[in-house]
Amino acid sequence: MRTYAFVNQKGGVGKTTTAISLGAELGRRGIKVLIVDCDPQANATSCLGIEPGSVTEGAYDALIGRLPASDCVLHSPNLKLTLLPSSPALAGAQIELVSMAERESALQRALRPLSGHFDYILIDCPPSLGLLTVNSLVAAASGVIIPVQCEYLALEGLSQLMQTLQRVRSSLFPALAVRGMLLTMYDSRTRLSKEVADEVRGHFGDIVFKTVIPRNVRLAEAPSHGLPIAAYAPNSPGGIAYREFTEEVLEGDAAPTGKSAVRERANRLPGSETSAPLGDRDGVSHGA
Ligand SMILES: Nc1ncnc2c1ncn2[C@@H]1O[C@H](COP(=O)(O)OP(=O)(O)O)[C@@H](O)[C@H]1O
Ligand SMILES: [Mg+2]
Repeated sequence: MRTYAFVNQKGGVGKTTTAISLGAELGRRGIKVLIVDCDPQANATSCLGIEPGSVTEGAYDALIGRLPASDCVLHSPNLKLTLLPSSPALAGAQIELVSMAERESALQRALRPLSGHFDYILIDCPPSLGLLTVNSLVAAASGVIIPVQCEYLALEGLSQLMQTLQRVRSSLFPALAVRGMLLTMYDSRTRLSKEVADEVRGHFGDIVFKTVIPRNVRLAEAPSHGLPIAAYAPNSPGGIAYREFTEEVLEGDAAPTGKSAVRERANRLPGSETSAPLGDRDGVSHGA
């Protein structure tokens, strides 16, 4: 079982796109995936075809301990993944958590009973370093994946993020690891993209994934169809790149230095029979 959080305090760098693209690609391969939408803006939820305003039980309820997380998840048989959805109410959790004991580990506690049911738990973080992100970091037992947009000043934001990770290590979770940095929105027509990519690799070396995600209009279109790229345009440059990224993650996770991903077949989650299906999308291929 692996749990990764997708973090970067900058918005618009590809956290949500990476979380749902990896999740859907793993799901397509028969790997059991839970996507946790920990952002009150609920982009992962809407990118998967769920109207956040319609979510009455979601990450908020699990986080504040009002309901077990297993009662709040939605299953998508078509996309072969499970979502703990966000809703605007999640913004309130930041405030309610402040007065809770062990407030930084609320998400970890909420997700613990689910861990045996999934091979991968992928947590999509908000674009901030507040309490929801700290909860995601503490829950990210297998490390964080940091999408880095290939644009000017990318490194400046990363040093602030690295300091935050260090603070979480020294105060809450000493084992917090960086699983990798992923270069996103790479535009091969610009010199800037190449310069930023070289600079990030020069600075962070091996922790930068080999796969680079290109800027690709299909990735920008997919959310409006409520579909991940693996279903919307699997053979677009973006779809191919996220497939390669998935392979790189799986290979790394299976390497002898790390523990290999568990592929056991879990039972259906308690409460899953009563949960609404995730989205009502029909087939898988919606053009390329
Ligand atoms: N590689 C890409 N090429 C083109 N558009 C992208 C790409 N990755 C993400 N996008 C789009 O850019 C916007 C920001 O991406 P998103 O994943 O939501 O970032 P974050 O979660 O970090 O805020 C979204 O509209 C998304 O569809
Ligand atoms: Mg996002």
